[in-house]
Amino acid sequence: MSDKTVGLWLYKNGGGDKIQQTLVNKLKDRNINTITDINLRGAIAKNEHILYNDIKLDELDLFFSYNAGEQTQYQMYLYKALDHVIPMINTFKALELTEDKFHTSFLLRQQGVQTADYKLCHRDDTHHLKSIMEQWDKMVYKPTDGWGGVGLTKIENQETLDMLMPFLNQIDLRYFYVEKFINYDNTDYRIDIVDGKFIACYGRKANKNSWKTNITSGGSVFLREPNDELVNLAIKAAKITGLDIAGIDILYDKVKEEYIVLEVNGIPAFATPQQEKLGLDFNEKKISAIVDLIDRKVNKK
Ligand SMILES: Nc1ncnc2c1ncn2[C@@H]1O[C@H](COP(=O)(O)OP(=O)(O)OP(=O)(O)O)[C@@H](O)[C@H]1O
Ligand SMILES: [Mg+2]
Repeated sequence: MSDKTVGLWLYKNGGGDKIQQTLVNKLKDRNINTITDINLRGAIAKNEHILYNDIKLDELDLFFSYNAGEQTQYQMYLYKALDHVIPMINTFKALELTEDKFHTSFLLRQQGVQTADYKLCHRDDTHHLKSIMEQWDKMVYKPTDGWGGVGLTKIENQETLDMLMPFLNQIDLRYFYVEKFINYDNTDYRIDIVDGKFIACYGRKANKNSWKTNITSGGSVFLREPNDELVNLAIKAAKITGLDIAGIDILYDKVKEEYIVLEVNGIPAFATPQQEKLGLDFNEKKISAIVDLIDRKVNKK
């Protein structure tokens, strides 16, 4: 079988450089060549080609992009173009979908997957927010394209909402997305899925002064076993969103007495060296699953 070439763009911090090296080696073992560090920020499109230095990216057998921290609009624009002509992991469509919290929740709910109850309304329909508040008691305002818990605001009463409104009106928003505040034990499950298969599960616990489990909000990671219900829920969410590689965040809603999918991530991080010391030992398994996936996609007729 003739040699194939895959372009890579992976994050380097938190042990990412080591992950990349392992991936490159494992692909080499399968006669798959790699070109690393293809940052679309430096690429240009020229007629029928997308060029990165002298490399015609449109002639690669696949492009694997895994760098959440450095994804800009320009890169996404080229990502979309490349996706029309070569296999991408993840696909542009799935990545774009899951970068948007509303679109993701909407699709999941359509397909019968429980999420946080939410509402979306036009920025001028602020009277809706007031009536929602009366029904829900507590809610969370979320930027639909946010990350790391930034901009999430818990609204606990009408006064907080009244205080927040002038601020929200100042920023250039087209709409409001709010979720009902979920009564949960301040821990979550993160389940990693690759190619429809379960890879790993761990938990995150919010800092005692916070209701957010994000590490950037002071949360911490801990070892946690999943059950079949959780694994099946994560596999279903990955399938619905179309992500080849997915990290599904799940909470147990104490009021509904069921698990709900809080978020689906298209670039879930590998375990950092520090987390590996804690016992999160899924990196090898995850890399192997990604190698199998790439192998299958590049050798598909
Ligand atoms: N509706 C909710 N009710 C209660 N807690 C919530 C709710 N939504 C979010 N949280 C808490 O806030 C944290 C961050 O929320 P979310 O994951 O939606 O946004 P984000 O972390 O900013 O996005 P990303 O994970 O893409 O970086 C969650 O991990 C959870 O602990
Ligand atoms: Mg999150």
